[in-house]
Amino acid sequence: MTARGCGKVRGVGPEILEAGVAAIARAAELIRAGDLVAFPTETVYGLGADATSDAAIAAIFAAKDRPTFNPLIVHFADPRAASRQVAFDARARLLAKSFWPGPLTLVLPRRESCRISLLTSSGLDTLAVRVPGHPIAREFLAAAARPIAAPSANVSGRVSPTTARHVVDSLDGCVSLILDGGPCEIGIESTVVDLSGGPALMLRPGGVSREAIEAVIGGIAEFGGGDAPAKSPGLQDRHYAPDRPLRLNATRAHAGEAFLGFGRDAPKSLPGDVMNLSPSGNVDEAAANLFAMIRALDRKGISAIAVAPIPDHGLGRAINDRLRRAASGDA
Ligand code: TXA
Ligand code: MG
Repeated sequence: MTARGCGKVRGVGPEILEAGVAAIARAAELIRAGDLVAFPTETVYGLGADATSDAAIAAIFAAKDRPTFNPLIVHFADPRAASRQVAFDARARLLAKSFWPGPLTLVLPRRESCRISLLTSSGLDTLAVRVPGHPIAREFLAAAARPIAAPSANVSGRVSPTTARHVVDSLDGCVSLILDGGPCEIGIESTVVDLSGGPALMLRPGGVSREAIEAVIGGIAEFGGGDAPAKSPGLQDRHYAPDRPLRLNATRAHAGEAFLGFGRDAPKSLPGDVMNLSPSGNVDEAAANLFAMIRALDRKGISAIAVAPIPDHGLGRAINDRLRRAASGDA
């Protein structure tokens, strides 16, 4: 049986290597040969490929079963490497200076001399770029010596991976090597800010809070206008979805439901499965636990996962964004 469009056989697992010097060198070699390598970032695990190779980028879309109209983020070892491919304005320079390396993605106009495969950005004249902060990601980018396109290493529309094990569970035989760097510290994807035309636009809340961005460049418009899908084709409603439905803003579990709590008041013992995103009520801790706990609770036999309300500030906004999308389409 083959898995999705990647042509590899399910069950023929990828190589998983603890990310040391030799493993990173091997990963870089595979990238240069056009293979797919999953690697840790501070946000989630990425499914990486040589961003300058049409064939390697096509393999990412096939492995994830991702619609080709949904563009990928390109990762660079440092801001200078990014500025060779896209045009930075004053705001972009300020944000890069404040948050790179780190969980911020900037959508900027492609330079005419841009060497990144057009498939990467789905034919758009903009490109999403990021310099990740995770030391393994940075060493890997330096060793590969080329930009690496990397969406989250999960099947399109499903829960993002925050451990190497999640990547195996999601992509199985479709990836040649997984660099294991342990659990991701932030646990939720990068914030995506569009600076490609006019006012700054928040396309996706993520690892850098809106408050922190506004402290650097001032007010930023919320994504969600009429041209929203055209602006960021990846932000379709249903996304990040577990197999079982989610029920949001729940104060208790109904019979048959699992419960995902938050804060001190969350019930500790219920008949079904119960987990707590952050017993102390810390939204950063909750973000780090979100995807792993949803995966753990998403088991056969439960009717739904009931999720407690999460405060809508800091990383709480990114959590609520993911929960709303994961629940959209559920009855
Ligand atoms: O934290 C992250 O950002 C992770 C790690 C691996 O870096 N990557 C990630 O990639 O979340 P992905 O492909 O799952 O999400 C990329 C998002 C999508 O919503 C996509 O539509 C948007 O970025 N995007 C990419 N290029 C764009 C562009 N040129 N214009 C507008 N949106 C773009
Ligand atoms: Mg994703």
